Amino acid sequence: MQDTSLPDPAIEFRNVSLSFDDNPALTDVSFRLERGEMIFLTGASGSGKSVLLHLAMGLIKPDEGHIFVEGREIENLDESDLLAVRGGAMGMVFQEDSLFTGMSVYDNVAYRLEEHGWDGSTIDKSVLEVLRFVGLEGEEEKFPGELSGGMKRRVEIARALIGWPSIMLLDEATMGLDPIVALQVLELVVRARDLNNVSSLYVTKKLYELPYLATYRAAKNSNGDIEVKEASKNNLAQTRVMLLDSGRLVFSGSVDEFQRSDLPVIKHLAASDPHNHDADPYFADPWDKERKPREEIP
Ligand SMILES: Nc1ncnc2c1ncn2[C@@H]1O[C@H](COP(=O)(O)OP(=O)(O)O)[C@@H](O)[C@H]1O
Ligand SMILES: [Mg+2]
Repeated sequence: MQDTSLPDPAIEFRNVSLSFDDNPALTDVSFRLERGEMIFLTGASGSGKSVLLHLAMGLIKPDEGHIFVEGREIENLDESDLLAVRGGAMGMVFQEDSLFTGMSVYDNVAYRLEEHGWDGSTIDKSVLEVLRFVGLEGEEEKFPGELSGGMKRRVEIARALIGWPSIMLLDEATMGLDPIVALQVLELVVRARDLNNVSSLYVTKKLYELPYLATYRAAKNSNGDIEVKEASKNNLAQTRVMLLDSGRLVFSGSVDEFQRSDLPVIKHLAASDPHNHDADPYFADPWDKERKPREEIP
């Protein structure tokens, strides 16, 4: 008999395979994203990261295997149930620009809830709350064409987070952003994870992001303000790294284990990490008003 006292994992893949024509994109992939857990999914370009996220969203179907979201097999859901899962349980930030250019920020962010029949005043409240969360209060009437790249990303995150889904899928959400804005995005991800207990699959090729995401946490301080700062060893978020290599999951373990691994594919990926770590604001909080410019940090 199944133990019903444990919640179902947020996402589970069982032996999932998918090919395009005769080219395998994913081969026999199995994993569980537990509730509240954050999995960092990495791997070279073309290794199958985006395909895995699209499968988890039910946007494409596997050739073989089974995919469960909060215990329900996606395959068995009809289109309206699937929409409900996407509308309520899951929010996704796509790799490519995906805002509707003809719609205002408000309408872009509200879209998912409108599509799922939420009532107007709840939508209104939710849009304002989530725009405040991403620091875009007051920008409701702008159109995507009037926004910087970083602001667009934050609108995309707001759109994924509206209504507080229980699962967040992020596909290279910091790609193409300058380091300060990229850090703001990482902080939003940490805040969503820690303050709203969102389970997440975070896809990135930027390996230097992993220690930040694994060791920084968001919490309310005694003034009720939200702080993102390095956590003590016994208070870390539940995180794990998974590595795809040509569509196969070849590693799953902690960030420490990942960094210490001798797997050639990991060494190769780390060596191709193009980031210059010297001129790097990654471990300071750009929203900290007391923060000293880098030059002044002893
Ligand atoms: N719609 C599609 N049609 C054909 N091939 C695709 C499609 N989507 C992805 N692929 C192929 O599947 C493989 C994995 O792609 P993808 O998941 O986008 O890689 P990643 O996100 O890791 O860079 C690649 O070889 C890609 O060309
Ligand atoms: Mg991709």
